[in-house]
Amino acid sequence: MAKQLPQALRGQNALISGASSGIGAAAARKLASLGMHVILAARRTERLNALADEIRQAGGQARVITADLACAEDRAALAALAPETAVLINNAGFGWYGYYAEMPPELVREMLQVNLLAVAELTRAFLPAMLARGGGYIINISSVAGGLPEQGVVLYSATKAFMDAFTTALHRELRGSGVHAGLVCPGPVSSEFYPRAAGQPNGKPVPAERFAVPPEMVAKAVAGMLARPRRRVYVPGWLAVSRWVEPLFGGIIDLLGPLLLKRG
Ligand SMILES: NC(=O)c1ccc[n+]([C@@H]2O[C@H](COP(=O)([O-])OP(=O)(O)OC[C@H]3O[C@@H](n4cnc5c(N)ncnc54)[C@H](OP(=O)(O)O)[C@@H]3O)[C@@H](O)[C@H]2O)c1
Repeated sequence: MAKQLPQALRGQNALISGASSGIGAAAARKLASLGMHVILAARRTERLNALADEIRQAGGQARVITADLACAEDRAALAALAPETAVLINNAGFGWYGYYAEMPPELVREMLQVNLLAVAELTRAFLPAMLARGGGYIINISSVAGGLPEQGVVLYSATKAFMDAFTTALHRELRGSGVHAGLVCPGPVSSEFYPRAAGQPNGKPVPAERFAVPPEMVAKAVAGMLARPRRRVYVPGWLAVSRWVEPLFGGIIDLLGPLLLKRG
C-alpha cells in the first residue's frame, strides 16, 4: 500500500491523537516518512517529545501538543489547529474488559469523552476549514469490535459502533466536497492497549491479544486511506468477514459468548 501520498499532502499538517504509543505513534512515523508534518497529541509529553525527536532525526517534521481528550479545554486547544491541518486522525482511545455492571462509573465517563465525544467534537471543529479549502481527510481508528458487540466490551464496542455509523454517514455527506472521511477497523493490534485495559480498576485481561498484529500494519492502512480514500478498511483485510458474524451468527453468540467471560 501507499509508498507515496498525494503530492498536495506533502508538507501539510496531520494531527494524530493518541500518538504517544501503539497505532498513533506508528501512524506518525509513517506519515512523517512520507513527507507530512505531524502534530502529535496525547497526555504523555515525554513520549511525544521522544517520538518527535526520532522523526526529526530521520529528516521529518513533528510538533508536540500535550492534551487530555477527557478534558474540554484540551479538546478545544486541539480544535484550534483546524485552519492549519489537512489531515485529522482520531486515534486516541482505550478499552476495558469485564462485566459492564462492574465498570467504574468514572471510567464510563472517561471512555465516552475520549472514544466518542472527542471524535465528534474534533471532527465538527475541523470540517468547516477543510470544506472551505475544498480538501481534507478525517480518518477514524475504529475496531472490528464496533460490529461485534460482545460480552466484556459493552461500552467499548458501543463507542466504536458510534464511530462506524458516524464516519459512514459523514463519508456519504461529504461526497463531492473534496473532503474525505473514512474508517480504519483493526482487529487485535500489539500495543499498550491490552496491558492498559487489564490494568484499569476492575479490568480483566482481554482474550483477543494473542492474535495481535503489529501497529505498523495499521499505520500502512492509514497511509493507504490518504493515497486512495475509502469508506472503510479492515486490518488485516480478511477481517472484512467480521461484519457478517453478528447478523449471521448472533443467535449462537447469545448462547455461547457469555461462556468466554469468566466471573471472579
Ligand atoms: N490494540 C488493539 O487491539 C486495537 C484494535 C482495534 C482498535 N484499536 C484502537 O486503536 C486506537 C489506538 O490504540 P492502540 O492500540 O494504539 O493503544 P495504545 O498503545 O494504548 O494507545 C492509545 C493512545 O491513546 C491515547 N489516549 C488514551 N487516553 C487519552 C486521553 N484521555 N487523552 C489523550 N490521549 C489519550 C494514549 O496516550 P496517553 O496515554 O499518552 O494520553 C495513546 O497514545 C484506539 O482508539 C483503540 O480503540 C486498538
